[in-house]
Amino acid sequence: GGNDAGDDAPASSGDEYGLVEAGSLTICSDIPYAPFEFEGGDNGTGYTGFDIDLLDAIAKKLDLKLAVQDVGFDALQSGTTLASGTCDLGASAMTITDERKANLDFSDPYYDSLQSLLVRTDSGIESIDDLDGKIVGVQQGTTGESYAAEKAPGAELLQLPSDGELWPAIQAGTIDAILQDQPVNLEHEKADSTYKIVEEYNTDEQYGFAFAKGEKQALLEAVNSALQELRDSGEYDTIYDTYFTA
Ligand code: ARG
Repeated sequence: GGNDAGDDAPASSGDEYGLVEAGSLTICSDIPYAPFEFEGGDNGTGYTGFDIDLLDAIAKKLDLKLAVQDVGFDALQSGTTLASGTCDLGASAMTITDERKANLDFSDPYYDSLQSLLVRTDSGIESIDDLDGKIVGVQQGTTGESYAAEKAPGAELLQLPSDGELWPAIQAGTIDAILQDQPVNLEHEKADSTYKIVEEYNTDEQYGFAFAKGEKQALLEAVNSALQELRDSGEYDTIYDTYFTA
């Protein structure tokens, strides 16, 4: 409508949410993790991706300005980073797990995901059963790491801090495979036909935004309401279709 001045002018200080910086929704993420969070875009934060765009839309609903901090994933998923008050929430393609719920509160789920195995096309690896004696790259502290440890006990796992190290490692031949979230391996497959996903694993994972446990209830509820509004209005679908096309 013509009188919605607030749409482009964040006006709220957000006092009721106990924000780390008044007027801003400060999010912590581990970048790069395309298509969920990576450098680029024009929202003023320097970052874009499905998570970032969704949070930008949520921030607008709350009349707050989005701010992004690039932090390590392992300390984010364990709760340490958020407990220290670095950010208001973690948005990092983070799977909601019972283990993490001991140290974090989660928003409603916003994305369904699965695991996958990426290899060189000429590797001879066709399934998770071919990984004995192979070096499998995983991101430290992720559900992909746990899955590989459980399902490929004969493989040697190389834990790296981020996808920003995993991708160069497979290109350098330091690792034979990457086991991680399917949408992220799919980006690599699309970028370079020397690599392919040979298997996908339906692990029933759902991503949620993470909050310091017991400390951000008002913000968590406001984020859930904004997320629901974005689903109802179709804005969620528009953002989804930007990154995930059939
Ligand atoms: N979904 C996986 C997990 O929660 C991996 C997430 C990694 N995210 C990232 N931005 N690096 O463990």
